[in-house]
Amino acid sequence: MRSSRQLVTEPIGLDVEALPRPIVWRDLFGNDHPVEIEIGMGKGTFLVEQAKGRTETNFLGVEYARWFWRYASDRLRRNACFNARTVRAEASYFLHEFVADASVSAIHLYFPDPWPKKRHHKRRLIQEPFVAEMCRVLQPRGRLQIATDHEDYFHQIEQVLAASPLERAQYQPPGSAGQGEMVGTNFERKYRLQGRPFFTFAAVKPAPEPPSFS
Ligand SMILES: C[S@@+](CC[C@H](N)C(=O)[O-])C[C@H]1O[C@@H](n2cnc3c(N)ncnc32)[C@H](O)[C@@H]1O
Repeated sequence: MRSSRQLVTEPIGLDVEALPRPIVWRDLFGNDHPVEIEIGMGKGTFLVEQAKGRTETNFLGVEYARWFWRYASDRLRRNACFNARTVRAEASYFLHEFVADASVSAIHLYFPDPWPKKRHHKRRLIQEPFVAEMCRVLQPRGRLQIATDHEDYFHQIEQVLAASPLERAQYQPPGSAGQGEMVGTNFERKYRLQGRPFFTFAAVKPAPEPPSFS
């Protein structure tokens, strides 16, 4: 349902093309708190709950659909989530162009578009080049969390991530998830009413080996 209310994107929503490459998180947020990125934030339910509940962490939402970006930015502003920012951008482009190596403590990807038709699978976001970008921007011990309702996409996600340097880990539902929820986004709540199954995946970037002096 589209809101007819005036949506105000400032000061949360950023003009991506005005940002430095790479972004210096300290300059953007005015502090050195860890930075977590949500890709495809939709209406921003996860980001609002996380930003409100974890004020010692900075959050950046990436969303390429203009209306969702505007809606989520306005919602974050109305909830005084000033530890959050959003960009309207395609996620692969954004990570590649704007995010420095080893600068992000977590990436959240909840209900990525599954592109169910076989001829559309090439449009799926979670493929080898994008996984390499996520791996590059995560800090050592940085975490990736994914949830989907689509079993075939989930198997592809498992396969492509198994071939990456990330190490599989236990999925941790965020504290803002409701009882029995995986994450508590709009799509999860909608799909739950439809009785769909859920699949979750988590992985951690390994810390570099300490130097050997022998
Ligand atoms: C199925 S919705 C899920 C929204 C939200 N995460 C949730 O669980 O309610 C997927 C969202 O990801 C966005 N999206 C899909 N591919 C994207 C990409 N490559 N870059 C940025 N946003 C993307 C879509 O516009 C949409 O808002």
